[in-house]
Amino acid sequence: MSDYKQEINRRRTFAIISHPDAGKTTLTEKFLLYGGAINLAGSVKGKATARHAVSDWMEIEKERGISVTSSVLQFEYGGFCINILDTPGHQDFSEDTYRTLMAADSAVMVIDASKGVEAQTRKLFKVCVMRKIPIFTFINKLDRDANDTFELLDEIEKELGIATCPVNWPIGSGKRFKGVYDRERKCILTYSDTEKGTKEGETTQIPAEDSDKLTEAIGQEAADTLREEIELLDGASAEFDLDLVRSGDLTPVFFGSALTNFGVEFFLQHFLKMTTTPLPRKADTGFIVPDEHDFSAFIFKIQANMNKAHRDRIAFMRICSGKYEASMEVKHVQGGKVMRLSQPQQIMASERKILDEAYAGDIIGVFDPGIFSIGDTLCMPKEQFSYEGIPTFAPEHFARVRQVDTMKRKQFVKGITQIAQEGAIQIFQEFNTGMEEIIVGVVGVLQFDVLKYRLENEYNVEIRLENLPYEHIRWIENKEIDLNRLVGTSDMKKIKDLKGNPLLLFVNAWSVGMTLDRNEGLKLSEFGRD
Ligand code: G4P
Repeated sequence: MSDYKQEINRRRTFAIISHPDAGKTTLTEKFLLYGGAINLAGSVKGKATARHAVSDWMEIEKERGISVTSSVLQFEYGGFCINILDTPGHQDFSEDTYRTLMAADSAVMVIDASKGVEAQTRKLFKVCVMRKIPIFTFINKLDRDANDTFELLDEIEKELGIATCPVNWPIGSGKRFKGVYDRERKCILTYSDTEKGTKEGETTQIPAEDSDKLTEAIGQEAADTLREEIELLDGASAEFDLDLVRSGDLTPVFFGSALTNFGVEFFLQHFLKMTTTPLPRKADTGFIVPDEHDFSAFIFKIQANMNKAHRDRIAFMRICSGKYEASMEVKHVQGGKVMRLSQPQQIMASERKILDEAYAGDIIGVFDPGIFSIGDTLCMPKEQFSYEGIPTFAPEHFARVRQVDTMKRKQFVKGITQIAQEGAIQIFQEFNTGMEEIIVGVVGVLQFDVLKYRLENEYNVEIRLENLPYEHIRWIENKEIDLNRLVGTSDMKKIKDLKGNPLLLFVNAWSVGMTLDRNEGLKLSEFGRD
């Protein structure tokens, strides 16, 4: 295999998702520790400092102690080059998280063993299912009292609609946590609480069929329970099938404790064996195969003013095929221009490193002079194709925006349009008017504060927001529908997006059904396309 193909095939790009506090940050830190990307001292840090180290570009983050932006981490482990797309855990930033998932080839879902499937996990999961990407489950915090293991699996299957296949099985939890049973090797790995921030301690492997040794290691009661559970499990759980994992229909489940380093390396090793090399992506000309095609990429995220001193705007792209080399000429398909990317960099947490080369699977950030939009394609100058657009996720909160100083109209329109281009908010207009009335839709309410803050600080424009009662938005799929003749409900509002596409807002879900009933042939969708 050529060097270039080898480079692509050793790449693994995945997103890590969880409900806040399930242990995503801790697990990510442990991965980095095994990969040697951070040193021991650096890995032991409190939540507050860890979060701020990742992104301290915005005052709001500091004030509220949450991470607003996603970051990308790259590290080497066992010959693999791993790209982790970290996603903000706070529920208010899910729009950005959704987009990040579009750039990943698989997802690692971290679940707190005492909480099970939580709201945030459910939402993010919907996107993974939509994309049919493989999902790997790490059930964390076994060193604390956990829910019944069968019930946890049942919950994942029922709530998320995906079959589960435990790769290992926990022996007790909390104070009685003894380790895990490795189903493939049919042996147990005993738990030892290693110091925070150090690598996994020595675990002892004991073959499960050696009754005496098993009892000696974990006690009679735990050994009996384990035998019973394994028998039940072997009879009831889905068989491991890599094809089903790859198509996103079966999730391999692992148990462990990120904080005490137990089960983390086990997970990483198995996960890397099961997950895929960079996947082919669908373009309007067909699928583009990563190692058979020259450079191409799509933009999944744009972020302005990451560094206030420079007032820069950075477009993040996922390389989908080939190799990127410094100062190479590329074509921006949507802009119809051939260009050199400006200072391509790898954004590693708070550090930036100028890149000489990058391969399919990697994520790079480039300075954007305001020409890129989310979903745009870049390819070689001689080529012409575009990747499938990134869906626009349905906002759930709406507000009317009023400008305090009407003299600053130009800055206001510029600011709000730029922030909307980044995808943090979506802006709409009344159906029959222009830019004078703007309605903002967001996935999480905190984005309203972010919008207000950024308009004031970056564009010097003060706004007032008037909350609107709508919670459901629907894009009209059949373009031939005449909106003026649409028979809706009394709580329905007609609006349009910036491209003039008609949409409907509803206060409750019941009205959506009612409107569908009243208008034959009407097709409504929860997701818009850019
Ligand atoms: P998140 O990124 O998913 O939001 O979670 P994070 O890793 O920040 O973990 C949330 C809390 O759970 C942290 O405690 C962390 O130490 C703890 N935690 C993570 N993994 C485990 C585990 O395996 N076992 C136990 N017992 N706790 C775990 P914190 O007190 O909020 O912060 P910190 O001061 O300990 O950093």
